[in-house]
Amino acid sequence: MSVEIHYIGFLMYAVVQETNNGNSLVETTTRGPYFDATASKNVTALLGKTAYLNCRVKNLVNRTVSWVRHRDVHLLTVGLYTYTSDQRFRSIHLPHSEDWTLQIKYPQHRDSGVYECQVSSTPHLSHFIHLTVIEPDTEIVGGPELFIDKGSTINLTCVVRHSPEPPAYIFWNHNDAIISYSSTRGGVSVATERGETSRSVLLIQRARASDSGSYQCNPSNARSANVTVHVLNGEHPEAMQHGGNQRMGPSLGVLAFIAYVLLAYS
Ligand SMILES: *[C@@H]1O[C@H](CO)[C@@H](O)[C@H](O)[C@H]1NC(C)=O
Ligand SMILES: *[C@@H]1O[C@H](CO)[C@@H](O)[C@H](O)[C@H]1NC(C)=O
Ligand SMILES: *[C@@H]1O[C@H](CO)[C@@H](O)[C@H](O)[C@H]1NC(C)=O
Ligand SMILES: *[C@@H]1O[C@H](CO)[C@@H](O)[C@H](O)[C@H]1NC(C)=O
Repeated sequence: MSVEIHYIGFLMYAVVQETNNGNSLVETTTRGPYFDATASKNVTALLGKTAYLNCRVKNLVNRTVSWVRHRDVHLLTVGLYTYTSDQRFRSIHLPHSEDWTLQIKYPQHRDSGVYECQVSSTPHLSHFIHLTVIEPDTEIVGGPELFIDKGSTINLTCVVRHSPEPPAYIFWNHNDAIISYSSTRGGVSVATERGETSRSVLLIQRARASDSGSYQCNPSNARSANVTVHVLNGEHPEAMQHGGNQRMGPSLGVLAFIAYVLLAYS
């Protein structure tokens, strides 16, 4: 691949040299090409959702803009031509525009990395753009296990990040059955907030033993997540000593003992 690039690089070099010889006055009095970094930024793209890497070049005149993938030094596009056989790559440029955009369809994790926007001046000018391909992510706050006292409120918050669009809906399951807000159980409510990060809060009032079990949060366009809820009937199960997060920490007795030791030995 690098041979190809060097070969093309040589051609561009020859063209620019000719320009310099014929137009030395113009060349010395005008500024050469340069990048507008504020319009040529790093890109975070969603898995599978078309990514656009923009490169804005000022004073390009009749030089050529190429895109090179750094991972394997692969020449992707030269001007408006696509050099790679990978049909997902395309160069977009509108007449009279300063933008040379690399379009990547169906981006995958392996497309993450550095892309070089190269201008065929002598020497070459390069601007590097980092592409990061991310996936939607779903999490239930405080999971994977929650310990709740009988009679208190079960409060489960499901957070969905990086989904291509806010999920059309987020529904909850309890032990594989969809939670119905109009069930005879009563005291169940859900509040959903959609945005760049979406949240769904499931509240179950007056927790009872039958509310124990697995709860699953199912966003329409992202992975589901689950937690196991243990409703405690005033007991102190062994699980609490190493799993839970709501009733963790040393007991009063332990604190009193530590205080006693500190006093005794100070
Ligand atoms: C792009 O990302 C790379 C790596 O994270 C970083 O070193 C570089 O400064 C970033 N460039 C811009 C313009 O933010
Ligand atoms: C580039 O433009 C200059 C005039 O600015 C012209 O003389 C030269 O032939 C052009 N080169 C190409 C390859 O079009
Ligand atoms: C539920 O928990 C979230 C934090 O996870 C908190 O912001 C919210 O106020 C709680 N709601 C109730 C009714 O306790
Ligand atoms: C619950 O989530 C864990 C990962 O957090 C996963 O390994 C497990 O398969 C999930 N269980 C169900 C029933 O979806």
